[in-house]
Amino acid sequence: MNDLRIDGKRLWNSLMELAQIGATPKGGVRRLTLTDEDRRARDLFCRWARDAGLAVEVDGIGNLFARRAGTDPSLPPVAMGSHLDSQPSGGKFDGAYGVMAGLEVLRTLNDAGIRTRAPMEVVSWTNEEGSRFTPVLMGSGVFSGVFTLEHVRAQKDLEGVSVGDALEKIGYAGGARAHRLSAYFEAHIEQGPVLENEGRTIGVVLGALGQRWYDVTVTGQDAHAGPTPMELRQDALIGASRLVLEVNRIAREFPDYARGTVGFLQVKPNSRNVIPGEVRTTVDFRNAKASTLDAMCDELKRVAKAIEAQCRVSIELRENVYFKPCEFDPALVGHVRAAAAALGQSHRDIVSGAGHDAVSIARIAPAAMVFVPCAGGISHNEIESATPADLAAGCDVLLHAALKAAGVAGVSRAAA
Ligand code: HGY
Ligand code: MN
Ligand code: MN
Repeated sequence: MNDLRIDGKRLWNSLMELAQIGATPKGGVRRLTLTDEDRRARDLFCRWARDAGLAVEVDGIGNLFARRAGTDPSLPPVAMGSHLDSQPSGGKFDGAYGVMAGLEVLRTLNDAGIRTRAPMEVVSWTNEEGSRFTPVLMGSGVFSGVFTLEHVRAQKDLEGVSVGDALEKIGYAGGARAHRLSAYFEAHIEQGPVLENEGRTIGVVLGALGQRWYDVTVTGQDAHAGPTPMELRQDALIGASRLVLEVNRIAREFPDYARGTVGFLQVKPNSRNVIPGEVRTTVDFRNAKASTLDAMCDELKRVAKAIEAQCRVSIELRENVYFKPCEFDPALVGHVRAAAAALGQSHRDIVSGAGHDAVSIARIAPAAMVFVPCAGGISHNEIESATPADLAAGCDVLLHAALKAAGVAGVSRAAA
């Protein structure tokens, strides 16, 4: 069993074929959740899963489960997965790698005729990215009870389209009931520079930063850019701009891997000779410690009050998502570390700066992740890239770690 390896070429070819769906000019993908591109990616994954003899189910938020039977159907499945949706100008590996790696593991077990005790399944979670619709980690959040199906189905995008309508439109509102998992593994590119800088192939992921997101509305007053004296203005964009700089200051000043990002800004009425009366923006705060994350948010609220007085605007902070810092299951993390060592892959422990569906699933089942490097640590960018060798190495680690959790029941005669 130890010399079992996945088919790296098949994995790479699957990733490249999937990357054609929503392909963008600089080599990335635009596959926003619940769009037609997402539907086409789902259709392709389901076809491949069925071709591999897997039983495919869809749940109420469109999560896809492709299951391979085990010899003991009473055992909850060992799941492997990630997401097929992308950022607006995302890369071809973020999420897709984890889903294709899970499929490659089951394809490899089929080829080798290996029967496992527990069933195994590949999962594609709906709307991991939280870009078109919030909250982030939506599908895995519904599966793990973080969000109710009713709440997320009612969320709307900037055009006013609801999750429920978008899901019905692409034909992926299913009826599968939630089920227990024995274990969950997620293979993912690191999306940061650590592994590449250290020349390591595998990241043994110990956990992930906590995150808190806000939707922010800064309200001032539309007025004429000419006659309105500077001292009488209620310029919402000035208020928002000061808040942006304060988010950056807070993240730079606070300890424990503090991160602060403002990625979205919408100015109204967005006309060059009108003083902006309203700005909608966002805050993404992260930290390795829950108490420090809370302190960052308290500081944000304090400075928002000060900006309101200075700029004569009002600032509304609406918490949109909160995930406390997450620690993955020590036993499963041990499986990942042992698999990397047995495979002779250079590896190191690492904490994820990014949120992943494994963070949701860790609330209800033992979970762990396998990282591989990406070029320059760049992700959420069309130029995101990873090497076939690293992707295959990570998939081999996924294979052996997941097999350890599922248990090998035997090898069918045909393949022996
Ligand atoms: O935001 C995140 O960390 C993830 O990429 N959705
Ligand atoms: Mn991802
Ligand atoms: Mn992402």
